[in-house]
Amino acid sequence: MSENILVCIAWPYANADIHVGNIVGSHLPGDIYARYHRLKGNRVLVVSGSDAHGTPITVRADAEGKTAQEVYEHFHRRFLELFLQTGISYDCFTTTHTENHFQVSQDIFLGLRANGYLFTQIEKQWYSPAEKRFLPDRYVEGTCYICGYDKARGDQCDKCGNLLDATLLINPRAKTSGGGLELRETEHFYLDLAKAAPALSQWLAAGKEHWRPQVVNPSRAQADSGELRGRAITRDLDWGIPVPVAGWEGKCLYVWFEAVIGYFSAAIEWSKNNGRPEAWKDWWYDPAAKTVYFIGKDNIPFHAIIWPAELIGLERLYETDPGRRLNLPYDVPANEFLNLEGQKISGSRNWAVWGLDFLSRYDPDPLRYYLTAVMPESKDADWDWAEFLQHNNNELVATWGNLANRVLTFAYKHWDGKVPEPGALRPADQELLAKIEAGFATVGGLIEAVKLRAALGEVVALATEANRYLDAQGPWFQIKQDKAEAAKSIYTALRAIDSLKTLFAPFLPFTSQKLHEQLGHAGRLGGQQRIETFAEATRAHTALTYDPAGAVGAWAPSTLQPGQPLGQPAPLFKKLEDKIVAEERARLGRAP
Ligand code: MF3
Ligand code: ZN
Repeated sequence: MSENILVCIAWPYANADIHVGNIVGSHLPGDIYARYHRLKGNRVLVVSGSDAHGTPITVRADAEGKTAQEVYEHFHRRFLELFLQTGISYDCFTTTHTENHFQVSQDIFLGLRANGYLFTQIEKQWYSPAEKRFLPDRYVEGTCYICGYDKARGDQCDKCGNLLDATLLINPRAKTSGGGLELRETEHFYLDLAKAAPALSQWLAAGKEHWRPQVVNPSRAQADSGELRGRAITRDLDWGIPVPVAGWEGKCLYVWFEAVIGYFSAAIEWSKNNGRPEAWKDWWYDPAAKTVYFIGKDNIPFHAIIWPAELIGLERLYETDPGRRLNLPYDVPANEFLNLEGQKISGSRNWAVWGLDFLSRYDPDPLRYYLTAVMPESKDADWDWAEFLQHNNNELVATWGNLANRVLTFAYKHWDGKVPEPGALRPADQELLAKIEAGFATVGGLIEAVKLRAALGEVVALATEANRYLDAQGPWFQIKQDKAEAAKSIYTALRAIDSLKTLFAPFLPFTSQKLHEQLGHAGRLGGQQRIETFAEATRAHTALTYDPAGAVGAWAPSTLQPGQPLGQPAPLFKKLEDKIVAEERARLGRAP
């Protein structure tokens, strides 16, 4: 039976380019998971977008003398370009700065308020008389009251690392102008997490065996601690979504409160764009639907506590049936961090491998392959250029690419560009095909459990089996004695690589498509993506859209037919030269 799968991917702040740490953290695992479920025949919806609000955007805009809008539009465009080039197949990659998202966020705010999950409270905050505004903590600088460092930020001290209470900073001043500040009272709305805590505890206690321990354990501890209190969800800011309450002009919804709402609003946006405005309900109200959130570990509390608390408090929206409740996350497979050559990735120091820059020199599938092979699913991992080269040359080129290429070239040459007629298969042939056939259940199970690293390892192991089979049969020698024997071997090998192509497809969509065509099949394996320019995207209120038109293929073993005309064989992967390791390492930390 077909399942409804909502793939939710963390919304990147549109204030910097995407690097390999971002790709491996959320976009790539979400895409692999989505591609697998599409091949399974499930109804998949992949949503995310640019996080366009919050101080990360305004700080960058101030630093560059640009508007916040210019900043987020610039990076949003580059995100779309990157997703197209890396095959990250979103159904809807939008932004938090759309009319639709404003409307939905304000409606959720009002729904929570009506249900008694919001309260107001007056607090003291730094006010800049010169700028005539309250300053976000990040905009305040002063002396750390813990270690005495004189350039501590309002929210955190970079010297001692402690999180700070901005109101306690000594000698506070505005970071931008250096001007003096005064503490003034301001009123804010708070999300009543204490009220949601019992429901959160109950939800986190049941049926979470498939969750990663590093996600469920701290979240449970937090929900059960009895220490969850109100959390401010409004800010004194003008860039963002206005608080929809009279008398609250000049205040906005806190970026984290509304960014997580994006998963919901983007599903609605997608439905509107597809002319079926109620379609989103299949993912949000069907209790059997699975909503899976792909995020980095720094985002865990927002997805396992805050967003579920919003959903619990809201109960339902745009739905009158009192029996229906919004779905809570089915899984939140947060990834740990990826380091780079033994150091923390840092965009500002250019200690990073940038997605678009990488793709100006290398192909996307080797990137996807290496990132999956080292995916930080249970502990931090490290990008190492020498290791990237080895994975490319040993596994992609030698194990997989050469297997496919030597079988296809041989078949093409000796059987007139067609799949040979094998007659009855021998036990060794059947044995190989049975092993590979069994891979669909094993690999599929691992992907569903979001053990993507292990899943990819299984597929490579099956490719190694196929190589072993081929070496044992030696069709290049068989053909000299008995062409019928060689035909059996080559037919079996072609069927094996046809199946392996599908098993690899979620991980390596570009080369799997190539191989699909070389094997003589038509159509787009698992569909394709369609990109719209930013101008078109904003007009239509949508962006990157997955296109199921022409989609073929299924998560099932090959049924390759004898006599099928083959396409022209060509290598799938390029061998990389040793010298790139030194070249790439030399780029790190240098001005680009
Ligand atoms: N923009 C945030 C970050 O990059 C992630 C937001 S995820 C969302 O850390 F769900 F809140 F959108
Ligand atoms: Zn300090």
